[in-house]
Amino acid sequence: MALSYRTATRDDVDELCELDGRNFGGRFDADSVERIRESFDLSRFLVARDTSLPGDPMVGAAGNFSLEVTLPGPSVVPMAGVTWVSVATTHRRRGVAARMMAWLDDDARAHDEPIIGLTASEGGIYERFGYGVATVVRAVSIDRRRVQVADRFRADTSSIRFVDHIEHLPEICAIFDRYRRNAVGQVAMPEFLAREHMEPPSPTTRVVCALHPEGFAVWQVNQDWNDGDPRHGLRLWMLCGLTDDARRALWTLILSTDLAGKITARLPVGPDDPLPYFLTNPRALKTTHVGDHLWLKVLDPSAAFAARSYRTDDALVVELPDGDKLRITADRVSSTRRRKRADLVLSDSAVGPLLLGGASATVLSNGGRIEAASRKVLERADAFFGSSPTPHCAVAF
Ligand SMILES: CC(C)(COP(=O)(O)OP(=O)(O)OC[C@H]1O[C@@H](n2cnc3c(N)ncnc32)[C@H](O)[C@@H]1OP(=O)(O)O)[C@@H](O)C(=O)NCCC(=O)NCCS
Repeated sequence: MALSYRTATRDDVDELCELDGRNFGGRFDADSVERIRESFDLSRFLVARDTSLPGDPMVGAAGNFSLEVTLPGPSVVPMAGVTWVSVATTHRRRGVAARMMAWLDDDARAHDEPIIGLTASEGGIYERFGYGVATVVRAVSIDRRRVQVADRFRADTSSIRFVDHIEHLPEICAIFDRYRRNAVGQVAMPEFLAREHMEPPSPTTRVVCALHPEGFAVWQVNQDWNDGDPRHGLRLWMLCGLTDDARRALWTLILSTDLAGKITARLPVGPDDPLPYFLTNPRALKTTHVGDHLWLKVLDPSAAFAARSYRTDDALVVELPDGDKLRITADRVSSTRRRKRADLVLSDSAVGPLLLGGASATVLSNGGRIEAASRKVLERADAFFGSSPTPHCAVAF
C-alpha cells in the first residue's frame, strides 16, 4: 500500500461519487455528477489514492463546505462543514480518515473559520477527533388520523401554493436563509446543498412542496391503500416558517391531508418545537428517536466565544483542552494566566456544546466532559452559557 494525498480536481469527481455512493449506499446519476463537478468547491476536498495498485484507485475522500452556524445572539459565524468523508472498505482502519480529518482542520483555519462541524453517519466516530454533540435530532411520528391542529390555533392555508420544489429552490433557500440566521444551532443551506438533499429517491416518488409567503414544507408521499382504509405515509423533509402564523398554516395543511396516515419527520421538529401545544391531542405526536446531530469542534475558541452573547452578567474562567485559559464575560473574552484554577475545565467534546448552549454545563459535568470548581459554578455556567429554546439544526450535510 502506498498512499498519496492531494486536493481534488474536476477529474476526480466521477470516482469521488463512485466511492461515496458505494460507502453510503447511494447512486449518482450523470446529471448529479455534473452538478457536483460544477457546484462543489473542490479545492476544499482531499482525495487519497493507493499508488501501489493498478490505476491508482481513489481509496479515501473528504471535504469541507463553506457554511455558517448561528450562535446565541443570534450571531452568524463562518463554519467549515465536514462532508463526504469516506474510505474504501479495503483500506479502512489504517489512519486514512484520521489524516484527512487533520487536513480538514487546517483547511478550515486557512479559511478563517473558527468552527468546524459535521453531521455524522455513526455516533462513535468523531469524538476522538475533538468534536462534541452540540445539537440533538428528534425523530417524530404523528398519527394524522387521530389529531388535528386545535381550532384556536388553525391558520389560514389559502395563501399556500403547491409548487415544484426544484423549480422553486431559490425561494425555498431564501426563506430558509432568513430563518436560520435568527435560530441558534441552524446551519446555512446553500442552494447546491438543498438540491442534493431534495433529489427524489426515485423518478416516480411523489414529492409535495407547499410554499407559503413566509415559509415552506416539503414532503414525500409513500402510498399505502391498506385494503381500502388508506393510510399513506408522509415523510416530511423540511418545514420552515418565518412566523408563527406560517408554521401553523403549514401544519394545519399537512394534518388536513386526506388519505394520509403516519407523518414522520426527522429534522424539521426540533427538541423544543411548540407543535405539541397546537394539537388536539399532543400524545398523537410520538418522539421515536433522540440522538446526536450537529457535532462541533471549536478551532478558535477566543473568536468563537467572543462572537456569541451570554444570558447573565458574569465572568467565568474556562480552561481549554490545550491548557489555555479564557476569561469570558458578557462583552469580552480574553486569555488569562492569572488564575491558577479555572472555574470550568473543558474536554474537547465539551467546547462546541457549551459554545452553542445546547447542553448545560451541569449535564456536561455529569457526563464527565467538564470539571467544575463547585456546584455553584455549574449553576452560574448554566445561566451564563444556556440558550433557549434548545438549539436545533434542521439540515444535514
Ligand atoms: C468512518 C470511516 C471514514 C473511517 O475511516 P478509516 O480510514 O477506517 O478511519 P481511521 O483508520 O483513520 O480511524 C481513525 C480512528 O477512528 C476509529 N474509527 C474509525 N471508524 C470508526 C467507526 N465507524 N466507529 C468507531 N470508531 C471508528 C478507528 O478505530 C481509529 O481509532 P484509533 O485512532 O483509536 O486507532 C470509514 O469507515 C468509512 O468510510 N465508513 C463509511 C462511510 C462513513 O460512515 N463515513 C463517515 C461519514 S460522516
